[in-house]
Order: sequence, then structure tokens, then C-alpha cells
Amino acid sequence: MKTPNLQGRSLLTLLDYSPEEIRYLLDLAKQVKEEARAGKKPMRFSGLSLALLFEKRSTRTRCAFETAFGEEGGHPVFLSTADIQLGAKESVEDTARVLGRMFSAIQFRGFKQSTVEALAAHSGVPVYNGLTDSFHPTQALADIMTLEESFGPGKGLTLCFVGDGRNNVARSLMVICSKLGIHFTVITPAALNPDPALFERCGVLASESGARLHVTNDTAAVSGARAVYTDVWTSMGEEDKKAERTALLSPYQVNAALMAKTGKSDAIFLHCLPAVKGEEVTAEVIDGPQSRAWDEAENRKHTIKALMLATLTGGVR
Ligand code: CP
Ligand code: NVA
Repeated sequence: MKTPNLQGRSLLTLLDYSPEEIRYLLDLAKQVKEEARAGKKPMRFSGLSLALLFEKRSTRTRCAFETAFGEEGGHPVFLSTADIQLGAKESVEDTARVLGRMFSAIQFRGFKQSTVEALAAHSGVPVYNGLTDSFHPTQALADIMTLEESFGPGKGLTLCFVGDGRNNVARSLMVICSKLGIHFTVITPAALNPDPALFERCGVLASESGARLHVTNDTAAVSGARAVYTDVWTSMGEEDKKAERTALLSPYQVNAALMAKTGKSDAIFLHCLPAVKGEEVTAEVIDGPQSRAWDEAENRKHTIKALMLATLTGGVR
């Protein structure tokens, strides 16, 4: 197979990435992780710069971008909304034009998907979505890398997302699973069912890849799952919905009883983090032997480095 060329590409949703392009990023991430384990640090980002725009808080995403880029000679610049005019006194389009003149790439974490799309449309450099209200595509790459570290190629495996079925993480998992032929079940109360338009779009992708997509409010549907995934009940920016979400999602807590319903003693537990232990997951599960959440956090760095290598340096051929 010809190596995909991702030079100059942005990553906004993953919807516009082919299964081959996603596979290439995952393979590159594996190679990057092996290099890290061997203590290799080639200076592949030397002379490049990265603007890191944050409207929302972050531990993993910021640190993954900053360390992955910096340790190979790149210059990351952190810019929060306290530092920069982003739609405040200057339009997003004008900010994009200016940053594109100064930086090799831009990462955006914030509220609206339209902001990251506008940055990509007007900057002329690769733009990476580090989480919006709608999608979290770099997270999905790390999630599948982690799943495959346990079970090998994801095609034909079943991943169950238990929790807020309409949030950014569930949406990005639905996209990547549909593309890669990974069966994906969303277990969520009906009030939090995934967006029907995205579900329909992913259904078409799934029919091409062989993935089965399923939405249910019955936790018994974890039966047969190789991985159980959850996320916070209340995402950033939705803090006013905390009481409502707690009421809706309490029956969906991932605990030892729910993990046992998979019927598989080697089923793994995944979480994008940060976690609220005692709410969406018990400490027993996330800190227990089935949890791969900490590998998953580390894999954010390897997948993000692979993404930047592929889009900024042409990858490793
Ligand atoms: N999973 C994740 O995106 O973590 P941060 O919010 O800490 O970046
Ligand atoms: N759904 C969560 C993910 C955090 C990484 C949020 O948006 O807050």
C-alpha cells in the first residue's frame, strides 16, 4: 500500500480522514512510542513553531502537544483566552490569518467547532482540534491505539461507550470505529442519545467497513465487549447541567458489576480522563487491573506526535 501523504492537512473531526490515513497515523504512533522507549529523540520539529490556543482547561492535551513538539526541537507557544484576542476584540478569521504568518501549525481547544474550522479555513497552516463541544479527534486516536495494544487490530472488536452518548468523546469514537470496522455500542439514557445526523453518517461509513453501530439504554448490552469506555457525566461548559446529568447517568456508572456483565475477564476499561471517581466510574475499576486509562493518557502524546510528524514533516517514510 502507498504511504498516505498527510503533509499540510488539518485534523478537525476525523470524518475527512480515510481508514488508510487513520491506520497510517496509528502505525506511526506505534513507531514513535517504540522510539520513546528506546530513548531516541530525533530533532524532527527543529525550526518549527506551534500555537496552542486554549479556551478550556487541559492537562493531557496541552502537555502532549507541548512535550511532543518541544522535545524534538519545535517551539510551542501556549496562548489562553487571557492572552490572546480570539473572537474578543479581533475576529477568529483575522487571528487565523496572523497566526498563520508566524506559526507552522495551530492547536485549538475550546467551545465551538466553527472556531476550529475557521482557524483551518483562514490560517493556511495545519490546525488540530484539541477538543471542541462537538469532537475530540486526537483522543480517539489514542483510544484505538490503546485498544489495539491489548487485542491487536481493532476490526471486529466491540467497544462500548457507557455514559453521555452525545458528548464530544462519544461522537469521535463513533467516527473512528465506523471507519475502522470496530463494532461500537453506545449505552446511554434516551435523553442523551447520539445526534441522529452523525449516527446516520457514521452508519454509512460502518456499512463500508463492516462495523456494527448500536445505541441502547440497557447496560446488559456490554455483554461481549472487549472494552468499556466512559467519560465524565458533565462536560466542560455544561456545568449548569450537573444535577440533571447525575440523575440521568447514575444508573450507568461503570463499576465491577457492570464490567462483569461483559462476560469477558480480559475486557479492558478505558477513560479519556480526567475522571470523577465515584461518579461515572468507581475507583475499584479505574485503578484496578482491567484499567488501561493510564496507558491511554500516555498514548495521547505518541498519537499527537505522529499527527504532527505526518502533517508537518511528511512523516517517517
Ligand atoms: N483527555 C483529555 O483531553 O484530557 P485534558 O482535558 O486534560 O486535555
Ligand atoms: N467530555 C469531556 C472530555 C474531556 C477530555 C469534556 O468535554 O469535558
